[in-house]
Amino acid sequence: MKLGLNGLVGKQLSLTLVIIFTTLLIWKWVRTPYEDSFHQLQDLDLFSQVAKVDYANQHPLAEEDFPNAEIAGHHTSETVVQVVSDNIVGPTTASKQTEDAKGFQSQIREDKVCNFAKGKWVAGKGRPLYSGFECKQWLSEPWACRLTQRTDFSYEKFRWEPENCDMPEFDGTNFLRRTKDKTIALVGDSLGRQQFQSLMCMVTGGKERPDVEDVGLQYGFTMGLNDKRPNGWAYWFPFTNTTILYYWSATLCDVEPLNVSDPATSYAMHLDRPTSFLKQNLHKFDVLVLNTGHHWNRGKLRANRWEMFVNGTPNTDRRLAAMGSAKDFAVHRVVEWLDSQLPHHPRLKAFFRSISPRHFFNGEWNSGGTCDNTKPLTGGNVVSQDAAIDAAAASAVNGTRVVLLDITGLSQLRDESHISKYSIKGTEGVQDCLHWCLPGIPDTWNEVLAAQL
Ligand SMILES: *[C@@H]1O[C@H](CO)[C@@H](O)[C@H](O)[C@H]1NC(C)=O
Ligand SMILES: *[C@@H]1O[C@H](CO)[C@@H](O)[C@H](O)[C@H]1NC(C)=O
Ligand SMILES: *[C@@H]1O[C@H](CO)[C@@H](O)[C@H](O)[C@H]1NC(C)=O
Repeated sequence: MKLGLNGLVGKQLSLTLVIIFTTLLIWKWVRTPYEDSFHQLQDLDLFSQVAKVDYANQHPLAEEDFPNAEIAGHHTSETVVQVVSDNIVGPTTASKQTEDAKGFQSQIREDKVCNFAKGKWVAGKGRPLYSGFECKQWLSEPWACRLTQRTDFSYEKFRWEPENCDMPEFDGTNFLRRTKDKTIALVGDSLGRQQFQSLMCMVTGGKERPDVEDVGLQYGFTMGLNDKRPNGWAYWFPFTNTTILYYWSATLCDVEPLNVSDPATSYAMHLDRPTSFLKQNLHKFDVLVLNTGHHWNRGKLRANRWEMFVNGTPNTDRRLAAMGSAKDFAVHRVVEWLDSQLPHHPRLKAFFRSISPRHFFNGEWNSGGTCDNTKPLTGGNVVSQDAAIDAAAASAVNGTRVVLLDITGLSQLRDESHISKYSIKGTEGVQDCLHWCLPGIPDTWNEVLAAQL
């Protein structure tokens, strides 16, 4: 027996110390469970607290290239509790702590509802989901940031981990199998087109697919005389008979020329009438994702010569003419109309995508605004609020069968992944802090969409 008095006292002492430290830890937690030294907490949410500790402890956010990108993977919060315990009480009590915390958290989990909009960004294995060099078949060049002079790509390496939701790892082949004989339509502005290109790259893994057929003509997608590009794209995957398409309708309103024989005609933009493309094609769709937002300003209206109409006549209501009101009104009308159509189209799953945030700092797009930050998640990695940020979209879908694809909050945290000042030809000075680099944030929108199909 080597264990003398000293050893015994030592053992008791360390046990006592462990108990004291554990008590202190629990006491501190009970007293200030939601205190956070790294970030101002927006609300009393345990998961955001845990995630923020996680963020501060585990992610080498200052580094450009994320050498530790693998560590976070798909872990849950217990890893984090362990890290905290390790720092304070040492490994002896860590596993007990972890188990207690786990039990407590799983109870909380059961009480909570899945909300894809809430959660956290984590450095993720298997990101990006496709290569920005390879996916040339579907990506518009200016949006493939790998083809520009940009040199930092750390923004590609995160995955969104929604709170209390199962979001399986996206797999293109599996997605096609699940959408056998189905047509997926995205209708909206250029951000919708980004989501469409992203989905094409995700489904193909960014690989060349000569077997995929262009079926745009079936939807009337053609180039107008003065157009630089067609008004839509549609592609058909022969093996699964899946069609994925996008139609450009920047406001989702029906737009018609006021004088068809005048090449310089103005257009009636019917705030209370959805684009005729939807009326004509709705019966063909199994999944529909609508979006609008960034064309609701005077400049765009003037440039497109759109004039607001309501009830088939020019709008004279000045309150409605205010851009925000006009947008809200139009969004409510299109969602209302779509909801009224759903009983006739029982196969159709309809989504309205919330606004994609812009990140012009120190100015606007036309007054020197920039988005030069290259360090991901400098403003935190957690969305913890329950209410949708895009209140107009949330209120439009409220009480309807149209589902809000709520991506505003999670995208808001990613100011570093816009196109920024980079371009193919090197047109320095132009800053695009509206569109996103691809691969990038719209991939996550599609993951959130796919998880709800
Ligand atoms: C392909 O899917 C459509 C429905 O989207 C269906 O009408 C058609 O019969 C399918 N074609 C084949 C060959 O299965
Ligand atoms: C429509 O445009 C044509 C060609 O510019 C013009 O001759 C005609 O007067 C216009 N019609 C109306 C009703 O303004
Ligand atoms: C949805 O409608 C309910 C009932 O009218 C209302 O209490 C709630 O505030 C609405 N929510 C949103 C996000 O508009």
